[in-house]
Formats: sequence, C-alpha cells, structure tokens
Amino acid sequence: MLLPSLLIVFITVQASSATINLSIFRRGGRFTDHKPCNLTHLSEILAATEQRYLTTYRGVDENRLVRRWRPTTGDDDHLLQAIGGDGSWYAALEVGSPPQELQFDLDMLGPDFYTVMTTSAEGSRYNTFASVTFDEDGSFDHAMCKRASDLFELSTSVRLSLPICTPPKASSLTLRSSGSVIGLGPPGFLTRLSGLNILDQLHTQGFITDTISSVTILDAETGVLSLGGTIAKDAEEAKIRAGIELQHFGQAEASPEWVQARVVEGMGLFDSTSVEKQFKWTKTQGPPGWWTTLMPGVWINGAKVMRNQPVLLDIQSPFILAPSEAARQFYAAIGGSYRLPAPHDMFFAIPCLNKVNIAFEMAGWNFPVMSAETTRFDSLHGPPGGPLSLGKLEDGTGYCVGVVVETRMGESSEWADSGLKRTWVLGEPFFRGLGVVFDHEKGRIGLRSY
Ligand SMILES: *[C@@H]1O[C@H](CO)[C@@H](O)[C@H](O)[C@H]1NC(C)=O
Ligand SMILES: *[C@@H]1O[C@H](CO)[C@@H](O)[C@H](O)[C@H]1NC(C)=O
Repeated sequence: MLLPSLLIVFITVQASSATINLSIFRRGGRFTDHKPCNLTHLSEILAATEQRYLTTYRGVDENRLVRRWRPTTGDDDHLLQAIGGDGSWYAALEVGSPPQELQFDLDMLGPDFYTVMTTSAEGSRYNTFASVTFDEDGSFDHAMCKRASDLFELSTSVRLSLPICTPPKASSLTLRSSGSVIGLGPPGFLTRLSGLNILDQLHTQGFITDTISSVTILDAETGVLSLGGTIAKDAEEAKIRAGIELQHFGQAEASPEWVQARVVEGMGLFDSTSVEKQFKWTKTQGPPGWWTTLMPGVWINGAKVMRNQPVLLDIQSPFILAPSEAARQFYAAIGGSYRLPAPHDMFFAIPCLNKVNIAFEMAGWNFPVMSAETTRFDSLHGPPGGPLSLGKLEDGTGYCVGVVVETRMGESSEWADSGLKRTWVLGEPFFRGLGVVFDHEKGRIGLRSY
C-alpha cells in the first residue's frame, strides 16, 4: 500500500504548485516578412494601436492617482475593444463538454475574463447550448454581462466563471466579432466585472500558488502564456542544450547521454526553487491599473543614451513606441539612420546591415533587446535587418524601417489626462528573447534573457 499513498502525496503537491501553460498565437501570422514595408498600412496599425491607450485616464482616488476607464457615450464599448482582429495575440482554450476551442485575446490593459456574443457571424463564438456543463444563474455581473460558468480543460478540468457579455440588440456594437478576453492587467481599479479574474479563480481553487502570469514569445507567431509560474527552467535547459550541441556538433563523444550530463551540469547554477532568483524584478510605477514601470537606461552600442524613461508593457503593440524626444535621441545614436518624410515621419530608416547593440536597463540589469533572432525560421523568413527592422523601406535600397516608432500620443489635448506624455510602449519586439513575468499580488515585473 506504500505506492498508492506516495502517489497521492505526489499528486497533491503537483496540483498545488502547478504551472498552467497555454499556447498563444498571433492571429493572421507574423507581422514582418521579406516584403518591403507598406507605410500606409503601418501608419494605420500605429493609429489603431495608440487608440487603445485612450480608453483610460489618470484620475484621483482619495489622494492618489489611479487609472480609470474613460466614460463612453451610450453603451460601454471598452469591454468589446479588447477583442482584436488580425494581429492580436490569443490563447486557444478548450471550454465546455464536449470541448469547444475558443480564442481568448490577451488583454494586458484590463484584468477581466469574459466572452462576448454578438449577432455577427465573425469571430470565435462560444456555443453555450452545445455544452452540457454550461451553467448560469440568471444574475448579472455588469449591465451587459450575465454571470455564467463552464468547465475549462487546463491540464486538468477546472470550473471557471466566465461572464457572457451581449451588446444590446439596438447597438452597433452587436455587429462586431464575437470573441473572448483573458485579462492579464493588474487587478484593482480597472476591474469591471464582479467575478474574479482568471488568476484569482485558479488561486482560490488551489490550482496555482502564486498569482503570477508570464509571457514567453517563441517566434514571430507562437508563444506560451503561463499562469501561476513560468517556463524559465525549460527555456534555460533548451538554451544550454542548443549551446552544447552546437559546440560539439559532429564530435564522437557527444552522445545523447553525454550531452544530457553536460546539460545537467549547466543547470547546476539554475535555482529552480524560486522565481525570486530566476528573474530580475522591478516594481510597477505610475498610477496603478497598467503594467507601467521605469526604465533607468537605454544603451546603444555600449553608450547610455537616455535615462529614466517611463514604460508600459503591452504585447499587443507590434511596435516599440517611443515619445517624440526619445525617438529622436534613439535614432541619433544609430549611424546612418534618418527620419522619413511626412506623412510617414513617425518612422525612421536604418541601414539594414548595420549591427546595432541595444540594451534596455531595467531592474538593475541591461537586457539586450531587438538584437538576436529568436529562431532560425525567423532569420530566414523575417525582414532583412533582423529584429530591429519592420522590413525594407523599398525594393532595391539598403534601408529598413525601424521597429522603434515615434508616438505623439500624449501631445494632443485629447490625451492630456492619459498620463502617457513621456511614456514608451514596450510591445511585442521587446518580449522577443526575454521571459517576462507579471506578479499580480506584489505589483512587480520580472525579466530574464533567454
Ligand atoms: C498598402 O496599405 C494600404 C492600406 O492598408 C492598402 O490600401 C494598399 O493596397 C497597400 N498597398 C500595397 C501595395 O499593398
Ligand atoms: C508548465 O511549465 C512548467 C515550467 O516549465 C513546468 O514545470 C510545468 O510542468 C508545465 N505545466 C504543464 C501543465 O505543462
């Protein structure tokens, strides 16, 4: 009887400290490729990206600044705004019995977890009638959203509450796509639905110990969202293994067992017990509600060219947005670069073949960014000019368009209370090559290089 009881202990320990890993994808595939840039198209995406940051403002709560939803005219459409079309990163989750696969757009600007049903045939729609485990009690979570729950297949079956939001029939919002949202924003002032967000639900039910979420981009269109933990250990192991295999390629002694032993040796320095030591941590700064912090330095080719830049982390931005003065300083430090003429003067051209070393200093550490290709596939199919580039400026030139783009948000009166005047947005290009953890309970961000 020893074995079964040991097994039970083992299973309990696993269950209480498990990390739930979800695959994430970029809808519509990779953002950049070998084709020359269409600047009109890029400008439209830039405008749409910026527009998402206009949904909240800096308001006062008692005597501190916090982030709040901007009132909307008529129906609250902020709940629908997080459901993107092309280009959004989403997690595919199995919901209901029999399981249906639903796409949950990642929302780093709000904490709520919900699904939206419109009358449109577009999007990924939850069919509640087809699920025998679907449950609703008729109460409301929000003027537009009913309280409901169903089983989710997350390595084990978990019942989660998933409010169902339906725009009023008379509203034009009902013509938008159906879809679902997994809010990864810090809980608090931006919570709109009375139910718990996904991390708190998993924590309350004992599936995860720590209310942390972590995003790891694997290549230009896939990645992993981990809830309750990270994939730091696997990523580190894969990196060490690849290094050893490359170094000893074709050598007789490099049998799989030999390589494995070297990997184990290499992992000796990795502290697998604590996320504390695996990541460098920085406290969030600025009005609570978004993942904002301070970037104490921007380094280009070994020189510190800027200090103390406020930043917002958001994987749904396909660019790195730099406020006007910062964008100017950034490109001034890159030889041969120049600003494109209006109307595309938010973009800068860089020589495609220049090797530029860029590091963002955060949490007391210089993290190389936009320098290494994440995969061989990316270096083959990505744009000329590598991760610092959005693609060739035009055919037959040696110039590429830089992935750091000037944003003027915060400069017009419409943005006066947005609190974003000097703020960078560190989007998807920043996440490549890094492990990023969001600690929802302690209000801090952890980073490590892969
Ligand atoms: C460039 O993008 C615009 C706007 O998205 C589009 O209308 C146009 O057809 C595109 N041009 C080319 C050459 O693809
Ligand atoms: C998720 O990843 C972590 C870290 O690599 C691993 O320890 C864990 O077993 C994974 N969990 C699942 C359910 O795959």
